[in-house]
Amino acid sequence: MSKVAEVFETLEYGPAPESAQFANEWLEKHGRAFGHFIGGSWTDASTGVSFETANPATAQPIAKVSQGTVEHVAAAVAAARAAQPGWWELGPHVRARYLYAIARKIQKHGRLLAVLESMDNGKPIRESRDLDIPLVARHFYHHAGWAQLMEDELPDYEPLGVVGQIIPWNFPLLMLSWKIAPALATGNTLVLKPAEFTPLTALLFAELCQEVGLPDGVVNIVTGDGETGAALVDHPDVDKIAFTGSTDVGRIIREATAGSGKRISLELGGKSPFLVFEDADLDSVVEGVVDAIWFNQGQVCCAGSRILVQEGVAEALERKLRARMETLRMGNPLDKSVDMGAIVAPVQLERIESLVEQGRSEGAEVWQPSWSAPREGWFYPPTLCTNVAPSGTLAQIEVFGPVVVMMTFRTPSEAVALANDSRYGLAASIWSENINLALDIAPKIKAGTVWVNCTNLFDAASGFGGYRESGYGREGGEEGLLEYVRPTWEHAAQLQREPTANDGIAQPPAGGTPAIDRTAKLYIGGKQSRPDGNYSLPVYAADGSPMGEVGRGNRKDVRNAVEAARKAQAGWAARSAHNRAQILYYFAENLEARRAELTGRLATLSGDSEGASAEFDATIDRIFTYAAWADKWEGRVHHTPFRNVTLAMKEPIGVMGAVCPQAHPLLGFVSCIAPLIAVGNAVVAIPSEVGPLLATDLYQVLDTSDVPGGVVNIVTGLRSEVVPTLESHDDVDGIWHFGSAEDARSTESASTGNMKRTWVSYGRARDWFDRQQGQGQEFLREATQVKNIWVPYGE
Ligand code: NAI
Repeated sequence: MSKVAEVFETLEYGPAPESAQFANEWLEKHGRAFGHFIGGSWTDASTGVSFETANPATAQPIAKVSQGTVEHVAAAVAAARAAQPGWWELGPHVRARYLYAIARKIQKHGRLLAVLESMDNGKPIRESRDLDIPLVARHFYHHAGWAQLMEDELPDYEPLGVVGQIIPWNFPLLMLSWKIAPALATGNTLVLKPAEFTPLTALLFAELCQEVGLPDGVVNIVTGDGETGAALVDHPDVDKIAFTGSTDVGRIIREATAGSGKRISLELGGKSPFLVFEDADLDSVVEGVVDAIWFNQGQVCCAGSRILVQEGVAEALERKLRARMETLRMGNPLDKSVDMGAIVAPVQLERIESLVEQGRSEGAEVWQPSWSAPREGWFYPPTLCTNVAPSGTLAQIEVFGPVVVMMTFRTPSEAVALANDSRYGLAASIWSENINLALDIAPKIKAGTVWVNCTNLFDAASGFGGYRESGYGREGGEEGLLEYVRPTWEHAAQLQREPTANDGIAQPPAGGTPAIDRTAKLYIGGKQSRPDGNYSLPVYAADGSPMGEVGRGNRKDVRNAVEAARKAQAGWAARSAHNRAQILYYFAENLEARRAELTGRLATLSGDSEGASAEFDATIDRIFTYAAWADKWEGRVHHTPFRNVTLAMKEPIGVMGAVCPQAHPLLGFVSCIAPLIAVGNAVVAIPSEVGPLLATDLYQVLDTSDVPGGVVNIVTGLRSEVVPTLESHDDVDGIWHFGSAEDARSTESASTGNMKRTWVSYGRARDWFDRQQGQGQEFLREATQVKNIWVPYGE
């Protein structure tokens, strides 16, 4: 047979290698050794400790980079600090021009960046060239726009200051752009640490920043491993840490920064479900699986690593998948006709191998195509695992490699239960020709991104980030931008201290505590219940006379309250926003009817009758505010540049703990619960220790206002006895704690168990009467999380 005829027969691709010449020239120009980029110049690469970065496809070293020390990090933070005021003062337009110039540079050097990325990471050039680099440019263009608009769109916000950014190795330059673009757009300066396996494109990026004349110190790049990262996290002059990587390190960072006042955003791991309903177009599904789990060798935080397929089509899908896996091409990442490249490092390869072995020992059937992966370099073939139990290692642990499990379901509700049977919640894909079904399932899945009949699509306009242990904070979209700013009023308020209980509790009169017969109970699941321990606490008026007693809640009461909240939450969230608004208006109306009693109570407590009246008025006003917002805190439709609509939906976080401020026991309490319930959360509220009776007075008001039982639960008691249980409870999804700096530390630290969202005040006083500080969008944002649902259109 002739050669041409052979090709027709086999339809084999010939090699189509992309040249590494320019990348090698660039590396040679630097003597294949790099220092750190600090304050606009390079540290000496020949001094200090360095390490090698290797090409995963050949296992050969490419270049040496410096290991960042505590001193390097300190120098970089100092440079960023010095540069920050000037960078902010340049104003929106000039910053926009810089970001635009960076975007242009990236486009101009796109091929060089793509080749270097593929050499350092092992990903196919097709991916780095067609996906990573265009998205990097898109992020800088998009954020050049935000820089321009910031003054008009976020007039009451200012930059955080100096940001520390730590990124992983799976999308080195893309993750850099997701971090750097919003930080610069909002007037921050930064120190970024790339992953130790893939530092090279960040260093080339630093050079591009020099070329566009970015002011010295605005962007600093320090290379190194986890220790360098930890030094950045621990540096006291860093205002925020933005991290992408493993959930384990995310936890370490949460713990290390607890109570420091550093803002953090964490984009962590995932075990994303890929749901296939029986009416799905299976050929499209197969290509979807290729993109979901074999893209970037499965080293993708949102990889669709769990195929959940409806029973009737499971066999057919498996057959088609195996056939497709046989045709995947694995090899030299610089070959343009290669589908899969190499695994980033031997340690990652070993991790994949050992997890697959673990799965096999648990009974998984492991299938790989008949061709063998290249032996030179670090390769792992595409792998399909069946016969895996939902609780099995391969169904629960993030492999971060080209390994997918396939499990079956019968009904849509079983599919949702299986999909949510994970501690993660980063992304999901839903495949069905029935759009009604897909859009019914999408909101039920706990994930930050849901792709309908598509997968692994990203865009700067659409926020990306997780639910649950996949972390918090978003990258991209307006919500991503808001991670890098704070309200301007916070600055001025910094020196005022949030009152603590000791500031307010009147002392009992000399001669002991007189007997009182009225004891308010706890409020759990819509019922007044006696505290588990059967103890109570006295409450005193401003003049020291007794006002009454409240239940002294304990751990068991908190747990009961969380359980009641969990039972009520989904039903509450499923109500229409109009209905929640109506209930809040009704709440205000019923409260108004008790004006005399409550203002009297407030006046007795504070000894200030004028103040009591003002607090009552502000409380009614506040409830009206959130009744108004309930049906207006809406999502968006993003214009992502594909043939699709991306629906950004604001969803409640779930079960929320609210440790209310000590001051203004009525207004402070309502300022916490009203925004939370307005958007569909259920709450376990710990009222002010000073004036808990103002909260317990609300039981009947809540009942008569048709707030369903369990939506608001109130546990009175000593904070030291109830708050630790609440903030470490694994079924609480988020917690607000308006208290001291020490409170902030313990709340943030206790949150690491299930990585619950936290909102704390670090002891900074908030003026609860002030409309900007005491209410508004900041509260609603902290009460919700955004889910982006991508829905393609067209045939
Ligand atoms: P990692 O979380 O250790 O590394 C991510 C980044 O954090 C790197 O820049 C690293 O130097 C830095 N780092 C490590 N320890 C640190 C510390 N104590 N303080 C501050 N920074 C620190 O991830 P690794 O070890 O590279 O991969 C392990 C596993 O993590 C993977 O198998 C995968 O399951 C998961 N992973 C998830 C990613 C995601 O995007 N969700 C990305 C990378 C890894």
